[in-house]
Amino acid sequence: MKILVTGGAGFIGSHIAEYLVQRGDDVTILDNLNTGKKENLAKINDKINFVNGDIRDYKLLEELVNNTTGVFHEAALASVQDSFNMKDEYIDVNVNGTENILKLGKEYGFKIVYASSSSVYGNPNTIPVKETDERKPINPYAQTKLDDEYLAKKYSEMGVSVIGLRYFNVFGPRQSKEYAGVIKLFLEKIKQEISPKINGDGLQTRDFVHIDDVVKANILAMDSNIKHEFFNVGTGNSISILDLANVVIDASSLSLEPIHGPELPGDVRATQADITLIRKLLNWEPKMRLDDWLTKIISNKDFQYI
Ligand SMILES: NC(=O)c1ccc[n+]([C@@H]2O[C@H](COP(=O)([O-])OP(=O)(O)OC[C@H]3O[C@@H](n4cnc5c(N)ncnc54)[C@H](O)[C@@H]3O)[C@@H](O)[C@H]2O)c1
Repeated sequence: MKILVTGGAGFIGSHIAEYLVQRGDDVTILDNLNTGKKENLAKINDKINFVNGDIRDYKLLEELVNNTTGVFHEAALASVQDSFNMKDEYIDVNVNGTENILKLGKEYGFKIVYASSSSVYGNPNTIPVKETDERKPINPYAQTKLDDEYLAKKYSEMGVSVIGLRYFNVFGPRQSKEYAGVIKLFLEKIKQEISPKINGDGLQTRDFVHIDDVVKANILAMDSNIKHEFFNVGTGNSISILDLANVVIDASSLSLEPIHGPELPGDVRATQADITLIRKLLNWEPKMRLDDWLTKIISNKDFQYI
């Protein structure tokens, strides 16, 4: 299959691209290397067509989607904190860029699986959160992801096949500093044998899902007969940031205590996915447990990926 991966030099996109190459697809990556890195593609560099360009460039996108069967759309500006100061840029890349892909999907008939986000829920009234629950973003980044969902729905009504995956907190090799960045930061501290720092009281909870499981969800969504849906992609379990710090400290056998800094603006209090829908419709099941992964990394002193 001929596939385009936008944001393919980033954390999630590069793992999707690796999977596609290994199964024999013809892969093109479009990335402007804003946060992405060519090093993320080291394993597949000679097997892909890499294009350094911007998803806001409609003409360029149009050249790249010619004869494409599917587009995995991962490119975005993804920092909650930056989004407060760069609202227009966030709207331009995340919303206008996504609409370019949807428009081309309508024109050329390819299927789109794209990165939505658990942040569309804001601070949910009930946990675990279901796909049909209210969406109330609490920061400009999350608002762009909600606007993308409105667009995805609109274009699906015009016949475009588009599935939005609401990722929770994705962790694993090459992870970016957003979302599961706390894991990266804690591991960096442990590597230096110093205490991890928690923003706020540490009682905020997160549903951490491993990158291999996220790749699988993307592939199942693309290969399915489903034309339009939004799916939660989490594990259904959550851990508080304080407990996470203690898991990391315990696994290291260092005698440390976590330290606390100020709470971050726009930080949601709790995330936990209800994954009934994706289990049922895509037969997807998360396999990797966060504590197993952390214990393995720390006990082997295998910090090379951070
Ligand atoms: N990592 C998570 O836990 C998580 C959770 C929810 C949603 N998401 C979403 O998943 C997607 C991938 O996130 P990630 O964690 O891999 O982040 P990332 O920053 O590693 O990847 C994003 C990629 O998009 C590229 N990009 C940015 N602007 C671009 C533009 N205008 N044109 C072309 N390329 C551009 C960047 O260079 C980067 O390679 C994003 O849409 C993000 O919002 C991620």
